[in-house]
Amino acid sequence: MFSWGSGSRAHPGWPARVGPLQLSAGEIALRPIKLRDGAEWSDLRIRNERTLVPWEPTSDADWAVRHHRGNWPTLYSVLKAEAKRGAVLPFVIEVDGRYVGQLTIGSIQRGAVRSAWIGYWVDDAWTGRGIATAAVALGVDHAFGPVGLHRLEATVQPANAASRAVLEHIGFRHEGLLQRYMDVDGRWRDHDLFALTTEEIMHTTAVENLVRAGRARFR
Ligand code: ACO
Repeated sequence: MFSWGSGSRAHPGWPARVGPLQLSAGEIALRPIKLRDGAEWSDLRIRNERTLVPWEPTSDADWAVRHHRGNWPTLYSVLKAEAKRGAVLPFVIEVDGRYVGQLTIGSIQRGAVRSAWIGYWVDDAWTGRGIATAAVALGVDHAFGPVGLHRLEATVQPANAASRAVLEHIGFRHEGLLQRYMDVDGRWRDHDLFALTTEEIMHTTAVENLVRAGRARFR
């Protein structure tokens, strides 16, 4: 079984370790980002430039400069502060304790909306083994469980077939096309809006659905 971890009253479900879940690739878990992740973050982001750039927000800064390990402490501090005030959950995706990507739940809104977006990336050396799908399932159950959210959204470019497949495996619904939604790789790009609410997985969990579908195992 996996554990939900603990959390504060101001930010339920954070900080927390989520998982593990077993795949043939190894044991998948989510854990909060750490200050000492700088070297791995920089190495993976620079190595994956070609696969990440088509889907990530445009930036004027050179990719390698932007992802120099020296920039991690500032990024980490910003994310940690946002996490502390309950606006974001920045997780590292681990396989057998190794940093292979990140999953973020962001723009968390409370009150009557109780909604957020979910985003993720996985090192090219580890793709195609169900890792993002397992990580998103863990993230969804954590968001709908301890964090107390009701709705998750994901925006994906129509051409991003792998990411669409991940969302469809979990049961995200296609809600529509957001035209010229985000400035990505130098142009305003349309994005498909996918969403999931608690009612859609009410009597089960995203992880249990994956296990039932034979895509993962409990440890
Ligand atoms: N056409 C159709 N399906 C595809 C294609 C393709 N070209 N490429 C991969 N797939 C399928 C795979 O077959 C797999 O489905 P299957 O399990 O039924 O075979 C699925 O896409 C991928 O599932 P996972 O293995 O769980 O995902 P993976 O660990 O490979 O990670 C991810 C997918 C995160 C999209 C990775 O490729 C990546 O990091 N890409 C670059 C960054 C990115 O696009 N991030 C998502 C942005 S959108 C968002 O965050 C909401």
